Amino acid sequence: MSDDTVELEARLAEQDAFEPPAEFVEQANVADESIYEEFEQNWPECWERAADLLDWDEEYDTVLDDSNPPFYEWFTGGELNASANCLDRHLEERGDEPAIEWVGEPTDEDDRTYTYEELHREVNEFAAALRDLGVGEDDVVTMYMPMIPELPIAMLACARIGAPHSVVFAGFSAEALATRMESADSEYLVTANGYYRRGDPLDHHEKTREGLADVGHEVSDVVVVDRLGEDDHGHELADGERYYRDLVADHEGATVEPVARDAEDMLFLMYTSGTTGKPKGVKHTTGGYLSWAAWTSQAVLDIKPEDTYFCSADIGWITGHSYIVYGPLALGTTTMMYEGTPDYPERDRLWEIVEEYEATQLYTAPTAIRAFMKWGTEYPDDHDLSSLRLLGTVGEPINPRAWKWYYKHIGDESCPIVDTWWQTETGGMMVTTLPGVKTMKPGSAGPPLPGVDVRIVDTEGEEVEAGRAGYLTVNKPWPGMLRTLYDNDERYVDEYWAEYSDTDSEDPDDWVYFPEDGAKIDDDGYITVLGRVDDVLNVSGHRLGTMEIESAIVGVEGVAEAAVVGGDHEIKGEAVYAYVITEDGYEGDEEMRSRIVEGVEDAIGPIARPEQVVFTPELPKTRSGKIMRRLLEDIANGEELGNTSTLRNPDVVEDIQTKVGGD
Ligand code: WT7
Repeated sequence: MSDDTVELEARLAEQDAFEPPAEFVEQANVADESIYEEFEQNWPECWERAADLLDWDEEYDTVLDDSNPPFYEWFTGGELNASANCLDRHLEERGDEPAIEWVGEPTDEDDRTYTYEELHREVNEFAAALRDLGVGEDDVVTMYMPMIPELPIAMLACARIGAPHSVVFAGFSAEALATRMESADSEYLVTANGYYRRGDPLDHHEKTREGLADVGHEVSDVVVVDRLGEDDHGHELADGERYYRDLVADHEGATVEPVARDAEDMLFLMYTSGTTGKPKGVKHTTGGYLSWAAWTSQAVLDIKPEDTYFCSADIGWITGHSYIVYGPLALGTTTMMYEGTPDYPERDRLWEIVEEYEATQLYTAPTAIRAFMKWGTEYPDDHDLSSLRLLGTVGEPINPRAWKWYYKHIGDESCPIVDTWWQTETGGMMVTTLPGVKTMKPGSAGPPLPGVDVRIVDTEGEEVEAGRAGYLTVNKPWPGMLRTLYDNDERYVDEYWAEYSDTDSEDPDDWVYFPEDGAKIDDDGYITVLGRVDDVLNVSGHRLGTMEIESAIVGVEGVAEAAVVGGDHEIKGEAVYAYVITEDGYEGDEEMRSRIVEGVEDAIGPIARPEQVVFTPELPKTRSGKIMRRLLEDIANGEELGNTSTLRNPDVVEDIQTKVGGD
């Protein structure tokens, strides 16, 4: 390193506040700080600003109906269609402009561009096909698809006919697919025969069939996208299966009038992990969700129609729903999709894509940034990344070192970074700086967005002093919020509201939303999110329930009991640690270990694979018989343990420690 570079690194290491770059501010969608004050004064009417970004078939008459908390309703009386908002209304001005730039993983095939015109045409054709299959308004259509253009096409086709979609991440197991289809009473499935991962064509068709075999009700139709062509694993179509391309060809040129949906009608369901073994079906609506996705895309990601915006998430997660599909397309911009991993064929794949397409924004996860850091600067240095104007992160806390690396080596110190805190349930961003307005502080997401009331409180709900750790709460409703859990209003209230609300009250001021995150706030009102306070792990930005993993492990023959905790991991943020007690007559050996790993992969998917399986004769328990998870976490992290004498079985601790340390 030259002296200059050394000096620069030293300066960056010390700097803890960064002003938005002047060139960025000049062109920012939101550049006036007064928006915070204005939204506070004018709440909830301020949210008309979000609704105004959309075209409504029928004007709403009320911004917020809070007469029955926590069952809030937004933009009531309004009617709109999400597919028309993402497609039809852009045709006149942007019909020939790219809506989706898709990059497949193999480098020897052609990438695909869909203009708004082309996307509109195919969405219409597929919507007509779905209708012909019998899909009606409010029928839930499940999608178990990789990152191929047919996924957003299928989502928008469903939205067009008023059928909610439920997208299941393609990396989830067959069993996970079956559970989600059953829970949503979903009778239609759109899938693919496979996709490419690090050069290999994966057999997704087989996995789909295994999943379908486990669904308790009849699934009437299965649509298969042929992603693999000649690389297909030789499957013939079975009864009830049809190729996507045949359906679309049969409906060539068909148009489908977008169905006017009530603002509160369900746009989609998204399953996410909770504290119990059963995933929760988060319900998002047409008016509130879409306006939230559009407004935050505009204000935070600074999206403009002429941008080429790149979010590297998977559409199988909420980030992809809000910030690859709905937000960007509602704003009429060009959104990118990449099928593969960032290290295939080389570790510069993302930078190659950014350079080739002249991407203007990059939105990714801290886990990816940590991997880039580890790989070294030569990969981004090899490419011209000067098209980038803004960088974003999401999914987990980002440490200041990774933040600064991203700022310097990807953004060339000329792009603001937005560290956005939100969750599946919030529909879109909640806590982040506005990039054209606010100072950035690495490691802190920033203040809540204008109009968003987030507080850091103690167990009683009282706000804690600056610098103290507390719990993050949201004290006012917002348009993008989930409305309930599918078919389970009671669990909705229990999981998100019971902790901090007076649940007997009809006064919305008595209702407080609890996202289950720990956080602290500084004197400037900047929030640092510390992580989940429930039994949910965040592995590479993916949310996994410890109970889900435990029940998978206990399902393995010979396992008596299991406890799963998160241990710190340099790249993934957290890694899965499983402590297992075997049944009499079973050995905690290699064979058992691989059966456990397999069991978890079958039940959930490879993302939940335990990093370590520790066999132990006992689990540390309190006198009342509760497993001491905190202690198991400390052991996983090699931390000094506090007083263990209150345990019912203190002797077991040392034994476990030796096993973890010695592995
Ligand atoms: C959990 C939500 C948001 C879409 C992707 C994940 C953690 C999210 C941040 C951030 C610190 C974050 C929280 C949250 N999280 N963003 N910027 N800083 N933590 O959605 O799967 O619903 O997970 O991710 O713990 O509760 P999700």
